[in-house]
Amino acid sequence: MNTPLAIVILAAGQGSRMKSNLPKVLHTIGGKPMVLHCLDAAKGLNPTRMVVVTGHGAEHVETAVHGADASALFARQENQNGTGHAVLQTRTALEGFTGNVLVLYADAPSLTTGVLAGFVAAHEHAGNAVTFLSTNIANPFGFGRMVRDSSGKVTGIVEEKNASPEQRVITEVNTGLMLARTEHLWTLLDSLEPNPPKNEYYLTDLLHLALKHNLPAGAHVARGGWELLGVNDKVQLATAETAFQTGLRTLMQEVGVTLHQPETCFFRHDTVVEPGAVVGPFVVCGEGVTIEEGAVIAPFTHLENCTIQAGATVGPFARLRGGTTVESMAHIGNFVELKNTTFGSGSKAGHLSYLGDAVVGAETNIGAGTITANYNHKTKLKSQTTIGANASTGSHTTLVAPVTLGRGATTGAGTVIRNDVADGELVLSTPDQKRKPGYN
Ligand code: UD1
Ligand code: CA
Repeated sequence: MNTPLAIVILAAGQGSRMKSNLPKVLHTIGGKPMVLHCLDAAKGLNPTRMVVVTGHGAEHVETAVHGADASALFARQENQNGTGHAVLQTRTALEGFTGNVLVLYADAPSLTTGVLAGFVAAHEHAGNAVTFLSTNIANPFGFGRMVRDSSGKVTGIVEEKNASPEQRVITEVNTGLMLARTEHLWTLLDSLEPNPPKNEYYLTDLLHLALKHNLPAGAHVARGGWELLGVNDKVQLATAETAFQTGLRTLMQEVGVTLHQPETCFFRHDTVVEPGAVVGPFVVCGEGVTIEEGAVIAPFTHLENCTIQAGATVGPFARLRGGTTVESMAHIGNFVELKNTTFGSGSKAGHLSYLGDAVVGAETNIGAGTITANYNHKTKLKSQTTIGANASTGSHTTLVAPVTLGRGATTGAGTVIRNDVADGELVLSTPDQKRKPGYN
């Protein structure tokens, strides 16, 4: 036990089945690239070294990985000549390392550290030179099949495109995860032969090669199914997203978050919802959202880069954008948009308002239709609006920023505020009302 472990993550493929210019492994699940989900699961094992093989879109993939783990090493695979060829590119990065090498495919975002740890334990227990992880799945189409002899002993892996009709009905498939001891890995990789139709060097051929060399090698069958297998196309991407969302919502419910219609809500990998918060149906979270204890998010609300403090209520149909904090016990009602705004404790904006680049004090009432005119089209600059505590804006007030409304100040309905308003002051716009009696 405790053999040193290095992890290799294969992330060089183009992912042509995704039909996208974005490298496959940068497609996201819960807002996080698949390769980073894989990296997280791998990091849980505390490997001695971690090497990511990049090729297609290498710079983008390396930037994403480096941002998440600055200690990860990279090996470039200039031409994507198959998964076996990809592992060969790590020879320099793994120079001087002795122990087990675990190979993962970066297109498997549902892998967990638990699954990987179980696999390492099984490989060690079997005393194998090479072990592959397999699983049983109802529809094995597209995956490599585990071939066994009549006694049940594994003899090799055959890929879909090279499988005979008899082999195609096998439902035990290769997950792609492999463990090999360094004493044998490089010699076995060096003896790989290219496979038709694309002359690719398959990592999976290591299994029958090891057996041919009379090395202890086999497959460990894991429970699970598609979660262990990769995402190759947009349908599988959506399936993995659904599973991720279900898992995240369940974790929230387990700690005491109320989700009224969980399957209609969308959260991200970094969404924080504290116990005691209530989230209604059809709530969507972008990145960087925190919903504190006792806050209530009413249906059809869209949130991103914002914090909703304890006991605040938001929605229905509210939109909170980047840099926004709704302080405790405040209320944001329907068709209200906040951007880069701090909205004071106990304050209310019940209806149809836009507050951008604003600071609103506590216990203030923002009347229906209040707008901060924060953008100057000519200078392209945005300016700040400050509204003091205990203030009140009348319906349809327009605040032309930069401008300050003092503490306890009041504006009348339809007022356009272009100059600062002092504490406690009332400002009214009283346009003439033309009267034409008997007009109709
Ligand atoms: C692979 C396995 C298959 C298994 C399946 C499980 C092989 C030959 N086949 O097939 O047995 O059932 O995974 O999901 O290994 N990659 C590179 N360089 C390359 C080719 C691929 O880095 O030259 C990377 C890809 O970015 C991807 C991973 O390796 O992350 C797997 O490649 P992919 O083409 O998706 O293999 P599958 O056809 O799914
Ligand atoms: Ca795959």
